[in-house]
Amino acid sequence: MARSIQIMGLVGTGVMGAGIAQIAAQAGVEVRLFDAREGAAQAARDNLAGTFAKLVAKGKITQASADAALALLKPVTRIEELAGCDMVVEAIVENLDVKRGLLTQLEGIVDAECILATNTSSLSVSAIATACQHPERVAGFHFFNPVPLMKVVEVIDGIATEPAVSDALLDLAKRMGHTGVRAQDTPGFIVNHAGRAYGTEALKILGEGVAPKGDVDRILREGAGFRMGPLELFDLTALDVSHPVMESIYTQFYHDPRYRPSPLTRQMLVAGRVGRKVGQGFYRYENGQMVDAPQPQPVPTVEQLPPVWVMSENAGDQQKLVALVKALGARVEEGERPSDEALCLIAPYGDDATTAATCFGVDAARTVCIDLLTDLSRHRTLMMTPATRPDMRDAAHALFARDGVGVTVIRDSVGFVAQRVLAMVVNLACDIAQQQIASPEDIDQAVRLGLGYPQGPLAWGDSLGPRRLLTILERMVDMTGDPRYRPSPWLRRRAQLGLSLRQAEPSAV
Ligand SMILES: NC(=O)c1ccc[n+]([C@@H]2O[C@H](COP(=O)([O-])OP(=O)(O)OC[C@H]3O[C@@H](n4cnc5c(N)ncnc54)[C@H](O)[C@@H]3O)[C@@H](O)[C@H]2O)c1
Repeated sequence: MARSIQIMGLVGTGVMGAGIAQIAAQAGVEVRLFDAREGAAQAARDNLAGTFAKLVAKGKITQASADAALALLKPVTRIEELAGCDMVVEAIVENLDVKRGLLTQLEGIVDAECILATNTSSLSVSAIATACQHPERVAGFHFFNPVPLMKVVEVIDGIATEPAVSDALLDLAKRMGHTGVRAQDTPGFIVNHAGRAYGTEALKILGEGVAPKGDVDRILREGAGFRMGPLELFDLTALDVSHPVMESIYTQFYHDPRYRPSPLTRQMLVAGRVGRKVGQGFYRYENGQMVDAPQPQPVPTVEQLPPVWVMSENAGDQQKLVALVKALGARVEEGERPSDEALCLIAPYGDDATTAATCFGVDAARTVCIDLLTDLSRHRTLMMTPATRPDMRDAAHALFARDGVGVTVIRDSVGFVAQRVLAMVVNLACDIAQQQIASPEDIDQAVRLGLGYPQGPLAWGDSLGPRRLLTILERMVDMTGDPRYRPSPWLRRRAQLGLSLRQAEPSAV
């Protein structure tokens, strides 16, 4: 049924439609532009002429290729002029009834072979297709904003979609220079589904008072390696967009606690503090610039460091931590039990500092924990018990700041900040793989390109260690009783068998 696409119809020439038209025309596809608003299609073409001129001026494309692409953009004033297209993609208003109406109207115009694609980001592709006589020709073609720069597109199979239709869209994506990833029609598809973990877990940490906003952002940016802190990211995306998405995904998954949104952002939304575009979100902005960027915690001055008794969960961690403490100039106590003066330094996974101190039978007042999951040469997170003495906290802070690496001290929490966020990011990606929403490879590509994470979450999980992540999650679920943290079977089985999280399963037949 599907065929190679040479002529694309594009309905809705707004932000997304114009971007899709641009990359299609640059790939040599004729694009017929239609918009319900009079003059909008022509205006989109005129704007794209300006875009091409800028790209030529910057030396990104040649004049000849700009001329060729522009010649392929053909505004039309009547929707009937889309007859003869190989496919039509709609990027109109995000409304189920309106999209259904458009697709049924298009079925009366285009020929039987024509693919109908929707750029919806939150509606069900199957639901949009139900009104069609031939739902098998309908698929999702979900781009990200800005389309020319976000080089990934999700190709969504609805319940009825003919596989050849999605194959043709994947082929077109490749010709347009984008990575096509294939996903089943499920809430949030891949990117908006996988992206739930980062923000919601950060909000939960903030809500529990584990650390203030600036510290949460710093730990995840500097320690874990995310490009932006989650709260800075909320400010950029704006809560009038992201809070409803969190609520919608949560509702669509029948209140699975994995996706639970936070009352914090609901309240901010109601108060109009939606982010950078209004000058106030988690942070304040003037002319788009943050004006109240939180400062790193000041390093305390400590005259004399106490001896340090070190306890970690395995020999490798123990060696690493002892070597670091010695290199920073502290005396390490090698005895089985700490002396009465010692700072008790513990490196737990998943446990909170209180549990760690109790497990190892050491004085909670002299206990400070350190997060070993992230790279200690970039950032160090220290965690106190509710009983930790200020002099012990300051001694640990001063010690770990001695070589200039940033240190953040947080209150007690299961899994620090980075452990719990990273474990949730990987665990959710594992669930997406388990549900066969997409292949492990496509999950990693989609998240890396769509969310800008330094690695795909499954590859990231492999480098952090599936067994270690499993331990973190098991302890978190144990201690909090919150099924939000239940380990995905995909993660648990691969951790138990020593397999990669990218390992797909053989089919049963
Ligand atoms: N903006 C994003 O970041 C983003 C990202 C991914 C997907 N999407 C999805 O893409 C679609 C379009 O979003 P956008 O941000 O480009 O919107 P937009 O408001 O910039 O553009 C929509 C265009 O569609 C036209 N239109 C509306 N109803 C129409 C109809 N019945 N027939 C013909 N034209 C009609 C409007 O005149 C407008 O020009 C939505 O489904 C949205 O959810 C948006």
